[in-house]
Amino acid sequence: MQDIKLMIIGAGQMGTGIAQVFLQQGFNVTLTDHKQENIHRATEHIQENLNKLVLKERLTTNEMEQLLVNLNSSIDLQVASEMDFIIEAISENATKKFKLLSDLGNLVKEDAIIASNTSSFSITELSTYVINPERFIGMHFFNPVPVMDLIEVVKGVHTSEQVSNFVFELGKKLEKSPFYVNDSPGFVLNRILIPMINEAVFAVHEGVADFKSVDTIMKLGANHPMGPISLADFIGLDTCLAIMETLHEELGDDKYRPCPLLRKYVRSGKLGRKTGEGFFHYK
Ligand code: 3HC
Repeated sequence: MQDIKLMIIGAGQMGTGIAQVFLQQGFNVTLTDHKQENIHRATEHIQENLNKLVLKERLTTNEMEQLLVNLNSSIDLQVASEMDFIIEAISENATKKFKLLSDLGNLVKEDAIIASNTSSFSITELSTYVINPERFIGMHFFNPVPVMDLIEVVKGVHTSEQVSNFVFELGKKLEKSPFYVNDSPGFVLNRILIPMINEAVFAVHEGVADFKSVDTIMKLGANHPMGPISLADFIGLDTCLAIMETLHEELGDDKYRPCPLLRKYVRSGKLGRKTGEGFFHYK
């Protein structure tokens, strides 16, 4: 399996983490993005993370260097024409995803498999933008990807059995726990997690408690490793808002209404850790 030609599109926090876990299992990875600076930042981040493993003596320096040799990058989408397996991990924006998938259609090999790491969009709908919908699937990772065990494997209406089995086995190869879930807005995890985060923001918005207290209350009282406000900053407030909007639009119930305070942060460009500021400030 390790000899497949693998490409990850999108060098943001998810694409970077996905690239790292594939590298650590001996895969050759081509990471692409439309911006060179994103690839540069992703490469540095992977190096830093692998270096930490060397310091913890879980990897030797030689092994780390060998893994990094297997990391290729490009800002040219044309490299997709050589690939067997492509993971789309760009931002959670439907128009951008539709365009990217349509562009890939003219490039990829007929038998290539395309997986989307979408957080909430319909796999069946996304599959209508590719040439070969039977070879399209959801492979949903969680942040931080090197730490989180779960992968949601999402079959669209057209996804073939062979492709879903392949992706499931691939998840196991990554030493993660893949689960089949049906194609439904937010799948399982985000359908439950993101409304909880939205509710936490509502509690702040309505003055029930300040954001630091809301976080601490959930850590102490519900044993969450991270409070919901910190987690929102960690995931990205724009991503949280995009998922809430999809849930609201698709499921049509007011309980999914995005909190105006969340929208306010996103409009002001305070997106969380990735911009250095969300509810909290980051260095
Ligand atoms: N990359 C790689 N490794 C990381 C990491 C990162 N970004 N952050 C932490 N780690 C590793 C540390 O090196 C450490 O490893 P070790 O135990 O092997 O030495 C381990 O994780 C624990 O880290 P820390 O001791 O520094 O910190 P914590 O114990 O507080 O754990 C956390 C940090 C794992 C992030 C924990 O707070 C947590 O699990 N938070 C919740 C994360 C979560 O809910 N993620 C899901 C988000 S939803 C999503 O991604 C879906 C998407 O579609 C929006």
